[in-house]
Amino acid sequence: MASNSSAAVSPDTLCIDQPDDWHLHFRDGDMLAMTVPATARVFKRAIVMPNLAPPVTTVAQAEAYRQRILANVPAGTDFEPLMALYLTQDTTAQDVREAANNPNIIGYKLYPAGATTNSSAGVRAVDAMGPVFEAMEELGVPLLVHGEVTEPEIDIFDREKVFIDRYLAPITERYGRLKVVLEHITTKDAVDFVADAHDLVAATLTPQHILMNRNDLLVGGVHVHNYCLPVLKRRSHQEALQQAAISGNAKFFLGTDSAPHVQAKKETACGCAGCFSAFTAIELYAEAFSQLGALDKLEGFASHFGADFYGRPRNTQKINLQRVGWQAPETVSHGGETWVPYWAGKQLQWQVVG
Ligand code: DOR
Ligand code: ZN
Repeated sequence: MASNSSAAVSPDTLCIDQPDDWHLHFRDGDMLAMTVPATARVFKRAIVMPNLAPPVTTVAQAEAYRQRILANVPAGTDFEPLMALYLTQDTTAQDVREAANNPNIIGYKLYPAGATTNSSAGVRAVDAMGPVFEAMEELGVPLLVHGEVTEPEIDIFDREKVFIDRYLAPITERYGRLKVVLEHITTKDAVDFVADAHDLVAATLTPQHILMNRNDLLVGGVHVHNYCLPVLKRRSHQEALQQAAISGNAKFFLGTDSAPHVQAKKETACGCAGCFSAFTAIELYAEAFSQLGALDKLEGFASHFGADFYGRPRNTQKINLQRVGWQAPETVSHGGETWVPYWAGKQLQWQVVG
C-alpha cells in the first residue's frame, strides 16, 4: 500500500509534523517542573490524566491544574495541555454538560475502581453510568477508558479482554455516536475489537507495549521498571500491537502513558505500576517503527491520527530526528528525588535534534 505520509525519511534523518501525546501523567506540585518540560520538549499537546490524589473530578479542579501545568512550560515553548476529568460513580449528566462547554477539557477518563494508581475513587458499577454516557454521546464528549476488570478471580493477563467483552462491547454498541478511546492497549483482542468497532472507537499504544512483552518483565528476574498496567502480555499480543501501530489505520495512535514513580517506589517489595518514558518518548516510538521497517508510518501514528480523532487541527510545526545512536539516561533527578526512566541506560538509534 502506498504511503500518504508527508514525512521526509532518509536513511539517517526524519522530519515529521510535531507529534502529540494523547495519554500521559504529569503528577502535580514540584514534579511539574520536571515532567512538563520533558514532554513539551517534543510534543505540542498532551492529554493529562486526572488520577491525582485527590482526583481531578471537576472543571474547576482541571482548570486550576491546567494553570499549574502552564506555569511550568519553558519560556518560548508552545505547549497545550488537554485535561481529562476523572469519572466517578457520582458524575452526573449536568457535570458532563459543564465539561462539554470548556474547550480545555478533552473528555472523561473511566478508571474501574481499583484497577491502577489512584483509581479507588473510580467507577464501581459501569452498568449504572448510562445517563452519563448518554450525555457524553449527545454532547460529543469522548470517553477515555482504562480497560481492565478488577474482579479478583479474573487472571491479570485476561483483564483487558474480559473488560472488552463485559463492558466495552456493550457500551460501543449501545452508544453508537460516543467517541471511545481504549487506552494503552495490550492484547490482540483489543486490536481486533478496535479495528472492528465503529469509526468513533480508537486506541492508544504505549512505547513499552510495542517494544516489549512479558518476558521483558519476568525473565532473569523481575524487571520492575518494565512493570506497568495493563501488564505486558505475551509476544503474540506484542506483535499484534506492532502491526496495529504500523498499519496506517487511523484508529491507532500515540499515547505514551508516561507515568513517573520515584525509584524507591519502583524498586521495592510492592513496586508501583508505571513506565516513565517522557524523556525519550518519540525516540522510543522511532526505535520501534525503525525495527519494524516502518518509519514512514510514524508520522500518521504520532502526529495526525489522534488530532483527527479528537477533531483538533494537525500541528503545523515540524520536528527533526537524526539516526545518531545514543544511550537513554540511567536516572533523572529533580528536587532531591531520583527516577529510573523506562529504557534506562539502553541504546536508542534516533534522537530529536530540533
Ligand atoms: O502503569 C500505569 N501507571 N498504568 C496506569 O494505568 C496508571 C499509571 C500511573 O498513574 O502510575
Ligand atoms: Zn495512564
